[in-house]
Amino acid sequence: MAKSSRGDELIPLEAQRKRINKTTMREMFAEDPNRFQRFSASGAGILLDYSKNRIDEEVMDALFDLARAAGVEERRDQMCEGEHINITENRAVMHMALRYQGNQPVPVDGKDVMPDVRSVLKAIANYTDAVRSGQIRGHGGEQFTDIVNIGIGGSDLGPAMVTLALEPYTRADLRAHYVSNVDGAHIHDTLKRLDPKKTLFIVASKTFTTDETMTNAHSAREWIADTLGEEAVPNHFAAVSTNLEACAKFGIREDRIFGFWDWVGGRYSVWSAIGLPIALAVGYDNFEKFLQGADAMDRHFLTAPLEENLPVIMAVLGVWYRNAWGFSTHAVLPYDQRLSRFAAYLQQQDMESNGKSVTLAGKKAEWSTGPIVWGEPGTNGQHAFYQLIHQGTDVIPADFLIAAQPHEQLPPHHDKLVANVLAQSEALMLGKTKAEVVAELEAQGLDKHHIKALAPHKVFPGNRPSNTLFYKQLTPEVLGSLIALYEHKVFVQGVIWNVNSYDQWGVELGKQLAKALLPKVKGEASGEDHDSSTQGLLKYYLANKA
Ligand code: F6P
Repeated sequence: MAKSSRGDELIPLEAQRKRINKTTMREMFAEDPNRFQRFSASGAGILLDYSKNRIDEEVMDALFDLARAAGVEERRDQMCEGEHINITENRAVMHMALRYQGNQPVPVDGKDVMPDVRSVLKAIANYTDAVRSGQIRGHGGEQFTDIVNIGIGGSDLGPAMVTLALEPYTRADLRAHYVSNVDGAHIHDTLKRLDPKKTLFIVASKTFTTDETMTNAHSAREWIADTLGEEAVPNHFAAVSTNLEACAKFGIREDRIFGFWDWVGGRYSVWSAIGLPIALAVGYDNFEKFLQGADAMDRHFLTAPLEENLPVIMAVLGVWYRNAWGFSTHAVLPYDQRLSRFAAYLQQQDMESNGKSVTLAGKKAEWSTGPIVWGEPGTNGQHAFYQLIHQGTDVIPADFLIAAQPHEQLPPHHDKLVANVLAQSEALMLGKTKAEVVAELEAQGLDKHHIKALAPHKVFPGNRPSNTLFYKQLTPEVLGSLIALYEHKVFVQGVIWNVNSYDQWGVELGKQLAKALLPKVKGEASGEDHDSSTQGLLKYYLANKA
């Protein structure tokens, strides 16, 4: 199959859309009492109900055919075999090795990477135990109470999201904080309440050159040196990077540098030493369970037939809505407050991976690729943006996430949470017809005139798609499995869209221009070579800066 095009293969979806558009989901549910059984699947601790989608068996068959024709299975094998599927950076894509629980060798460029992976994990386990037990302490001998991870993008979003999600597994006397933004407010407000004697910094950067991270790291270093003395620095810093030399140059002790490898993409690195703050916050045993959960999803992804494969099902549904229906955004709505940063995490995972408009062959993609991913936890979102999801002019496919068991003993809360999440997907699917609205208003005793004026505003179009992901409890295993599920979904979509999901050239131009603008912002060079807008804004800044 020609890998340079995808447009022709997407055409059958258009015919399917026209066909199924004649029937609403409400009708399909009424006709088929087994619709849930037919369109739900489970794997690695997660139940996926995808019955509330604009699909029938013929649509799903066409979508699975598309995935097969696009070579999803072949590319999956290539990824596992360590082929350099990240062609623009000439790198293998092996984050699955980081959580692999089996005994087989995992070769990358002819070398089994598992001994190195396990040796770093062992070092993380030892260091984590030593910090948590107080064996490793601050310069003055005090036990660490606060860990500050300094990183951005993949070196921040994953650990920050996971630490929040696993709050029930954390200790009150060891808190993790995350500083990412170059905006001085971030580090300032974080350090304001911390005691340098009891604070441990982790500088996390794959490259150890990212400007935001290095700027924050130098400010943190100064804070320690100014308050505790220069000699205290080695005892208050650890680093995670593929650039071991730069870590040593920064002044980090060799035994506190945790490495990883160029075959781990930044946004796929939470499983690597980038997960160190997670291990410190929840303990190494729980970090290990998190890896095991991800591995369980990997096994499911690698072995389940496409028709029962959770990441594949979610991926093809995404393609269905993006390419056959033209829906441009996808909402992720966890009914799980501890997943409050999950959508932000997925934004990088999905949008940095598949926000591409050039094919693997370097040609313009003639079809839509990655959607805009966004979301907030329910029920908060219900009181904010759900209005648009229910009655707005755009259709927004959504994923609802919910646990069967909460961690806390507050009985009335969880049943209400579950009632709300079920109500939302039901409301989106069913909608409310004009006849139903009129009947409701008549029952309330409104007169004909009022009913006529009010009814159009109270109609819900319905037929709005969603998936529901149910899991027993948000444990480290389930969280690992959930993240891996979305990683593989993004992979499958990248294969279908024929883009490289593992590079991120789109972040470079802004970085280059910021570098060029810095001397002008500082007033050390003229900004006359810029467009009039940039010049005008520069002038305003220079006239008003502190
Ligand atoms: O945003 C671009 C990016 O390269 C991400 O892919 C990466 O996660 C982030 O910057 C941070 O990079 P580093 O870990 O090298 O500091």
